[in-house]
Amino acid sequence: MAARDTAGALAAPLPDPGPLDLDTATQLARRALDRCDALAAHSEHPDHLARRCLTGAMADAHATLRGWMEQAGLTVEVDAIGNLRGVIGSTGPDEPRLVIGSHLDTIRDAGKYDGPLGVVLGLTMVEAIRELGIELPYAVEVVGFSDEEGVRFGRPFLGSLALVGKLKPADLALTDDAGTTVAEAMDTFAPGRELADARLDPETTVGYLELHIEQGPVLESAGHPVGVVEAIAGHRWETVHFTGEAGHAGTTPMDLRRDAMTAAAELVLAVEDLARRADGLVATVGDVTARPGGNNVIAGRAAVEVDARSADAGVLERALLDLRAIAADIARRRGLTVEHEVHFDQAPVKMDAGLRALLREAVADAGQALHELPSGAGHDARILAPTIPSAMLFLRSPGGLSHHPDERVHAPDVAVALRVAVAFLVRLAARFEARPEITGQP
Ligand code: HGY
Ligand code: MN
Ligand code: MN
Repeated sequence: MAARDTAGALAAPLPDPGPLDLDTATQLARRALDRCDALAAHSEHPDHLARRCLTGAMADAHATLRGWMEQAGLTVEVDAIGNLRGVIGSTGPDEPRLVIGSHLDTIRDAGKYDGPLGVVLGLTMVEAIRELGIELPYAVEVVGFSDEEGVRFGRPFLGSLALVGKLKPADLALTDDAGTTVAEAMDTFAPGRELADARLDPETTVGYLELHIEQGPVLESAGHPVGVVEAIAGHRWETVHFTGEAGHAGTTPMDLRRDAMTAAAELVLAVEDLARRADGLVATVGDVTARPGGNNVIAGRAAVEVDARSADAGVLERALLDLRAIAADIARRRGLTVEHEVHFDQAPVKMDAGLRALLREAVADAGQALHELPSGAGHDARILAPTIPSAMLFLRSPGGLSHHPDERVHAPDVAVALRVAVAFLVRLAARFEARPEITGQP
């Protein structure tokens, strides 16, 4: 262990320039970005990037990533839910392991970095450690999560939920647009695997680290290449279903209509207003479906997809109660019925205090000023954090742009992130050797 130390001396800075020098970090960053380009070629659509879980495009991405992982000496497997998992180091049942990862699935018409950058950087960290000749006192597992975005089955985080044993039979019965269930897609993609085998053992998992683009403007406006994540916001996906009566657009007088589309329109604006008035709340309607659908048909049914988030559980809860009252009022005034369907509901989660402290020190090792920030976006770390000590490092997003094909990351920021991450690995290893119980210990 290069930076072996006693627990008391760990807060001292590592020797300048930290374990990974800038030139090497710059070369590794360039290779990581080339790899993101290569992964982005594996898409379900020829004209834009769209890669859902358990698809042929995902299998192609796996084949590419598996090649790089195996070349780096990792043993690679695909688990039952379709996570790609590469392990290096001692892998006995009671052996400790550190997990590093992010997701490989994308939204429709995605950028190249939301998810895949974190997976590629996990592998690059392993390669850097090996090139530096550093021995870690535990195995390292790099995970490319199967589903984080929830595009295919309308339920996000299927990949990480499997690692903490929280994937429910109801999740496996969800269907995609073609009527294929999660269970059927799993069987086709990775036959013969047991979901139970996908679980991490919380007793032996040292922690989880995720590197991810910020996907917002905070680091850029503060002038920082990287930031340490404090917490991940609470998040709910809820469909509001309005039911009125379909009718003829030419013959039904305006005052005799029960139009579900106009109710939906009112709700869309009310959601925006609710979020503007509440402190620390963001809320979005990104999709509305009206049925039966047609220029000359009054909509009898409308489904409004609401995404609401806050780092404050109380703010989120109040907003969702307000949403229900507003939807009920719209329905009453317009003579409709309304129902709410919750697809996803996660409370805010804090990142592990002990791992965050090590990340803060690693930021200093890399010669960077510290910036800490909450995450408004959801991440696999959110799902793992209640069970496994978890930490996240954000990379600056140019223009704050993400969930957009022009999403970018600066190559020098990737080099900084790698230097921080390698310093973190060195500090964590020293800390582990001195004191294996790290959870929640600042
Ligand atoms: O929606 C999210 O926050 C994430 O990008 N899946
Ligand atoms: Mn995303
Ligand atoms: Mn993401």
